Amino acid sequence: MTAATTTLVSCTDVIRRFGSGATAVEALRGVSTQFHAGEFTAIVGPSGSGKSTLMHCLAGLDRTTSGEVEIDGRPLSGLSDAELTKLRRQRIGFIFQSFNLLPVLTARENVELPLTLGGADIDAAWIDELIAGVGLTDRQTHRPAELSGGQQQRVAVARALATRPAVVFADEPTGNLDSRSSVEILDLLRRAVDEYGQTLVMVTHDPRAAARADRIVALADGRIVHDAPVPEGGPDAVLDLMKEIGQ
Ligand SMILES: Nc1ncnc2c1ncn2[C@@H]1O[C@H](COP(=O)(O)OP(=O)(O)OP(=O)(O)O)[C@@H](O)[C@H]1O
Ligand SMILES: [Mg+2]
Repeated sequence: MTAATTTLVSCTDVIRRFGSGATAVEALRGVSTQFHAGEFTAIVGPSGSGKSTLMHCLAGLDRTTSGEVEIDGRPLSGLSDAELTKLRRQRIGFIFQSFNLLPVLTARENVELPLTLGGADIDAAWIDELIAGVGLTDRQTHRPAELSGGQQQRVAVARALATRPAVVFADEPTGNLDSRSSVEILDLLRRAVDEYGQTLVMVTHDPRAAARADRIVALADGRIVHDAPVPEGGPDAVLDLMKEIGQ
């Protein structure tokens, strides 16, 4: 692993409370951590432990109740909604469990979408490279409905990389895929880290997926309960770790 020292995303004492009074839910109860350039982090934890909430706060999709998130050293709390949207478009890529492609656009147009939305020039050679990288050169004019789930998620991976973002956040990117397509997607994510130095934060329940990361952060009840390099020994060792920390 390369020395990862540049901090791209950090959060300090993040609390996120939903609702108020007796029915309030504290989804995050004081989370502090950093994500470094070129690092692939898996976030694990039981259902309801705050994984998605943390990712949404880190990615500027949701505001914290208190505490601070910084992306590229910029505190998000100081940004207006318009500035936050711009930062998100330019510096962050997303991959969702449910692919979230636009059905009326072709695969290629979906990959280009973050650039189109941001008003950026489209570098056709870069889009060609991304589409070839995910193995969809001969499917690029197809619409999402004409693609399998695994192929749609490959489009989503290429789309997430299109703006060369500082960080890509993926929320259970293999959650809707069969095991073979999951391996393909994890191979692509791993390659983005190894070849492009992409920083990646991935929420997953799957020890086989977490085993492909460099680092595992575990949440329980809105707090970080484990943060360490992925153990040697592959998915079995990760499964043992997840059991040990009460997953
Ligand atoms: N918009 C919301 N309004 C109210 N409560 C919410 C909201 N979003 C999340 N929560 C609550 O916050 C807690 C953490 O939810 P979160 O979605 O972050 O969990 P998670 O770890 O991603 O779970 P899963 O593995 O099931 O996706 C849960 O108790 C959830 O019900
Ligand atoms: Mg979730």
